[in-house]
Amino acid sequence: MADQRPGQVQTHGSRTAELVAVSRARHLLRHQPPYIFHDPFAFRFLSRRWQRILGSWLRDAFISKVVLRRLMPITTQPLTRARFTEDCLLAAIENGVSQYVILGSGYDTFALRHPQLDLDIYEIDLASTIALKRERAEAAGLAFPDTLRLIPIDFEKDSLADRLTAHGFDPEKRSFFNWLGVTYYLSREAIRETLSHVAEIACPGSEIVFDYLAETDSIPEEQRSLAIRMRDYVGKLGEPMITSFDPAGVERDFNLGENWEVVRNDSPADQQKRYVEGRSDVYTLPPLFWCLNLSRQ
Ligand SMILES: C[S@@+](CC[C@H](N)C(=O)[O-])C[C@H]1O[C@@H](n2cnc3c(N)ncnc32)[C@H](O)[C@@H]1O
Repeated sequence: MADQRPGQVQTHGSRTAELVAVSRARHLLRHQPPYIFHDPFAFRFLSRRWQRILGSWLRDAFISKVVLRRLMPITTQPLTRARFTEDCLLAAIENGVSQYVILGSGYDTFALRHPQLDLDIYEIDLASTIALKRERAEAAGLAFPDTLRLIPIDFEKDSLADRLTAHGFDPEKRSFFNWLGVTYYLSREAIRETLSHVAEIACPGSEIVFDYLAETDSIPEEQRSLAIRMRDYVGKLGEPMITSFDPAGVERDFNLGENWEVVRNDSPADQQKRYVEGRSDVYTLPPLFWCLNLSRQ
């Protein structure tokens, strides 16, 4: 897919961030334990409209079996990528990581789910998404822990290093960066720039996990129509997917250089095997998104 110009216009908070929260909330309401990803707070961050839909079997069946039927196969990936990332994070904390930075955090709820952890957490997102998240937390009576800082940024314009250090981030401490569900909405330059800003402020031993959209040539032909439907759908929500990568050439394509070593470049099949196999209640992961875990050298 040729890169296109970034075209997000958001005054209302990210719609795709809300859809990710819908996927996490729906997992607890409609699927069986053990859950791939257990997020008891996701439902409380949803709009009234989505709470009404998920709160009724009939409405939910209409949306999932009729309105969004042909898009439902993409609803498993937000669960597996979050599980993969938090598995990597918890292992990194055991190895001395003490700062957690969530880039394009949307309605991430890690800070609420793990208040006991001795971890400084930085959530970074567009100002409009952060404002709506604060509003919904307040309406739901949820108080964020003092260890959480919410920082507005536009990856296309602002310097991540400047924003983070201005809010108390310590470059000498080992850190873990989560960047889920974001890269495909950014230009290639902004992605490379953000990765190099992260390398600039992350000391050796720090890590990052993010997912990326596989370029069309590497998606099996019979699944390409799903990719097109997905891109049409999020494009209409005002958040077009504009950038994809070659899973066989990530070092070159992401311009990783000597700063980053690839720990894992997890394919959808790898994630399917680890988190989904044996379940009949969730959709098989389509071969669209890969997860990359990098370690700062
Ligand atoms: C699909 S959501 C993912 C949210 C969250 N990471 C998750 O997985 O639940 C994409 C997020 O990227 C943020 N985003 C998109 N473009 C951005 C930009 N240029 N700068 C900062 N954040 C951006 C959106 O506001 C939104 O919260």
